[in-house]
Amino acid sequence: MGPKGRLSFRFATDEDSRVVFSWRNDETAVRNSQSSSPVSWEVHKVWFGGAVRSRRCLLLIAELKTIASGETQKVGVVRFDLLAELYAEISINVNPAFRAQGFGRRLVEASSAISKQHFPKLQSLRATIMDYNAPSQRVFSACGFELVSASPSGDLWEKNL
Ligand SMILES: CC(C)(COP(=O)(O)OP(=O)(O)OC[C@H]1O[C@@H](n2cnc3c(N)ncnc32)[C@H](O)[C@@H]1OP(=O)(O)O)[C@@H](O)C(=O)NCCC(=O)NCCS
Repeated sequence: MGPKGRLSFRFATDEDSRVVFSWRNDETAVRNSQSSSPVSWEVHKVWFGGAVRSRRCLLLIAELKTIASGETQKVGVVRFDLLAELYAEISINVNPAFRAQGFGRRLVEASSAISKQHFPKLQSLRATIMDYNAPSQRVFSACGFELVSASPSGDLWEKNL
């Protein structure tokens, strides 16, 4: 298990763009992404600016306030893209320094509840996961998602809220 502390979520702002960019272009995240390639700063900056302002996107930063030091650290980002009135796509990226410590599961569980408050009509969440991304499959399956269909461009997983 990772460092003990209180996990909280807040809306992402332009100030988070740089750190989210660095997590996005981390080697593992690139390999697990649907495009399988890094994103340029220019493309990311425009995308991020649009995402934080879009009413159809909920972009959350998870922060951990460590009990030992009282320090607050960013542990990851969770994005919900409203695809239709009733369902949204969830995507998660844990800060590379905090991976494999159980945060993935905590982030998906807690943020799913927030997504339902934010988009009250939401009935289901879906995630696209590469078939070789075992940690992500374990996280989403532990959080109640089920594999719906397989595809070379990413398997579709779904959960009813
Ligand atoms: C995928 C990701 C979200 C998982 O979150 P995480 O905090 O690292 O994972 P957790 O610590 O919660 O571990 C989840 C499970 O995967 C296992 N796991 C973790 N790292 C692993 C690894 N490198 N290889 C195999 N299994 C691993 C854990 O043992 C755990 O299994 P368990 O539930 O049976 O105990 C995170 O690694 C990440 O951000 N990766 C890069 C971006 C990405 O792939 N996003 C998902 C796109 S769909």
